[in-house]
Amino acid sequence: MARKVSVIGGGGNVGASCALYVAQMEIADVVMIDIVEGVPQGKALDLQQSGPVEGWDAYVTGSNDFAAIKNSDVVVVTAGFPRKPGMSREDLLKANADIVRNASEMIKLHAPHAFVIIVTNPLDVMAYLAWKTTGFPKNRVMGMAGVLDSARLRTFVALELGVASEDVHAMVLGGHGDSMVPLPRYTTVGGISITELLTPAQIEAISKRTANGGAEIVALLKTGSAFYAPAASAAQMVEAILKDKRRVLPAAVMLEGEYGMKGLFIGVPIILGAQGVERIIQIKLSPEEQAALQKSGDAVKKTIGELGL
Ligand code: NAI
Ligand code: 2OP
Repeated sequence: MARKVSVIGGGGNVGASCALYVAQMEIADVVMIDIVEGVPQGKALDLQQSGPVEGWDAYVTGSNDFAAIKNSDVVVVTAGFPRKPGMSREDLLKANADIVRNASEMIKLHAPHAFVIIVTNPLDVMAYLAWKTTGFPKNRVMGMAGVLDSARLRTFVALELGVASEDVHAMVLGGHGDSMVPLPRYTTVGGISITELLTPAQIEAISKRTANGGAEIVALLKTGSAFYAPAASAAQMVEAILKDKRRVLPAAVMLEGEYGMKGLFIGVPIILGAQGVERIIQIKLSPEEQAALQKSGDAVKKTIGELGL
């Protein structure tokens, strides 16, 4: 039987792009769910018709009925409002919490064995809300942000050095917000730390641009936020699970004492495979890095408190 990946919010920018990337990988059939009538159906049909041109085969459907996610192996949640210029991710909190709570109830009902990848912002808090609402074990619920934030850091390093971005590896931890924690020490080019290739001023500028990466695109687009790289990042996580790749990447997961924090979702390095979050990797942080991560965790906890969770 074909594996099944559902994207809730699949009629939107991130969701539809994620559906495309997953279909192209030929790892699962894809179901796109959205509340806007006709849009997920229309985009699914359009996307399906790109298959013969692009040379992939996967069955792509769209629906307004959450029951269509039945027995999904993985559900990606991108439903919600995107950030507008001048709007912080936290501004989205209440509106998106209602949407994610409802999506989580539907996942619990129709796809009780699924792995859940949350994309909706504010990311870390929405991932926590989905975990609480579904009641799923912590290895099955995670948030996508670290792959995207690291991809931005990788891109900026590659552009600065004029090298292939695929040879740049990076690690960005913490919450998906202004307080995220890029780790230059763990950012390498062909295995060489960027601390040997770039000046402290260059690294500082790249780290700042990374933390501001989402806002930079919002300011340019004006009517929405980034979607190609976010969608590709979520699709990479889907692939890691379905192909049991045991990828080492940062993701927002439930902490229970790791990195000195507990009772929240925040971005840390994990091993992602067929069991979902198979392990949290604890790396030794400098006192400054640990303090920055703690500060980021405090911000996430504050927002969890604002939702009364
Ligand atoms: P979008 O507006 O293009 O798409 C959102 C979709 O959700 C729309 O099609 C809308 O009809 C649908 N929707 C709304 N309520 C729904 C419900 N109750 N059930 C099902 N579908 C519903 O927005 P976009 O650009 O796709 O962004 C989606 C979310 O992802 C936003 O919250 C955005 O901030 C977040 N995001 C997070 C990133 C991350 O790194 N974690 C990166 C990029 C975006
Ligand atoms: C981003 O980082 C808006 O969270 C979204 O692009």
